[in-house]
Amino acid sequence: MTMKALVLDQNTSFGIKLSEVELPALQSHEVRVKLYAAALNRRDEWCRQGRYPNIQNGVILGSDGAGIVEAVGEEVDKDWLGKEVIINAANHWGENQKVQSGEFQILGMPKNGTLAEYVQVDVDRLLSKPSHMSFEEAAALPLAGLTAYRALFYHGQVKAGQKVLVTGFGGGVAQFATQYGIVAGAEVYVNSSKEDKINKALELGAKAGFDYRKEAWVEEAKSISGGFDLIIDSAMGDTLPGLINLLVPGGKLVFYGATLGNPPMLDARRVFWNQLTIQGTTMGSDQDFRDMVDFVTKESIQPVIDSVRPLEKVLEAFELMSNGSQTGKIVVKIN
Ligand SMILES: NC(=O)c1ccc[n+]([C@@H]2O[C@H](COP(=O)([O-])OP(=O)(O)OC[C@H]3O[C@@H](n4cnc5c(N)ncnc54)[C@H](OP(=O)(O)O)[C@@H]3O)[C@@H](O)[C@H]2O)c1
Repeated sequence: MTMKALVLDQNTSFGIKLSEVELPALQSHEVRVKLYAAALNRRDEWCRQGRYPNIQNGVILGSDGAGIVEAVGEEVDKDWLGKEVIINAANHWGENQKVQSGEFQILGMPKNGTLAEYVQVDVDRLLSKPSHMSFEEAAALPLAGLTAYRALFYHGQVKAGQKVLVTGFGGGVAQFATQYGIVAGAEVYVNSSKEDKINKALELGAKAGFDYRKEAWVEEAKSISGGFDLIIDSAMGDTLPGLINLLVPGGKLVFYGATLGNPPMLDARRVFWNQLTIQGTTMGSDQDFRDMVDFVTKESIQPVIDSVRPLEKVLEAFELMSNGSQTGKIVVKIN
């Protein structure tokens, strides 16, 4: 059986190509999901650019997907057949809630991912698709929704009434973090490169937004908010000193990425004197994933979706992510 899929090929000028590929035999503990939609994450773009560790040509990219179970392996309960599902892209987290195991892997490198007509995964990666979401909306949820959930609740311990800053609102994870914080009763502020993105955050209930391209944005944010109890960031790089400056004494910075690279300096005295915490985080455990899906379902949270395009136009989706003009998740409709 063959299918259309987006494979990594670093010998092409764009680094990826749509190909017809063979589906391997289904393993006894696996299910075959016919995908109706998938979504991009910055990770896919890092892979395309050859900037992700241990990349392998021929791997199908994509961590996020939603679809219908079409076939089950010998050991899998046949009740899964025909179910509408989402896929948890975090594999082999392990039992320790604090940190992932050494076997931890993300779907879509090294294992074949979701930017394809079908994906084959272990049955324990499935959860029912939230009923308030379409396939396109559900496909936007798993990786970013999970990362934002752990950052805000497990590490951030966000509480009602706290002041929270989410940086880079246009990002796939950031729009979830913003919405979760608002639902949790926090006073949420954002920063972004574009006014229309800030306006979208305000529409969702954010208190105020700041343009991080302006040199004075840190002073502006400080004078309007009075400082933040919690900051959720993935930019890092030379933005770190400004973020540290914006934390109130006892505040916490939780970061899940370093898009701008390593910070050139850290005001260590400010960190120890003000009893600040700088906490790294990555995706989340199976427990975090179940809790996140329950929370999103209970609160009827809908992902901010930038755009939806067919698999045939998936290269266009990568161009969009590459130039950073999206607001929220970039979705690919498949079947
Ligand atoms: N550790 C994990 O498990 C995990 C999970 C997901 C993502 N990540 C990492 O987190 C980062 C974001 O991922 P994503 O999928 O959300 O990416 P994305 O959708 O491409 O979003 C990236 C966002 O970064 C923001 N940004 C760029 N420069 C900035 C600056 N100077 N200050 C503040 N924000 C800035 C932009 O916000 P505006 O558009 O608003 O300007 C952009 O939309 C990536 O580095 C990714 O690899 C890590």
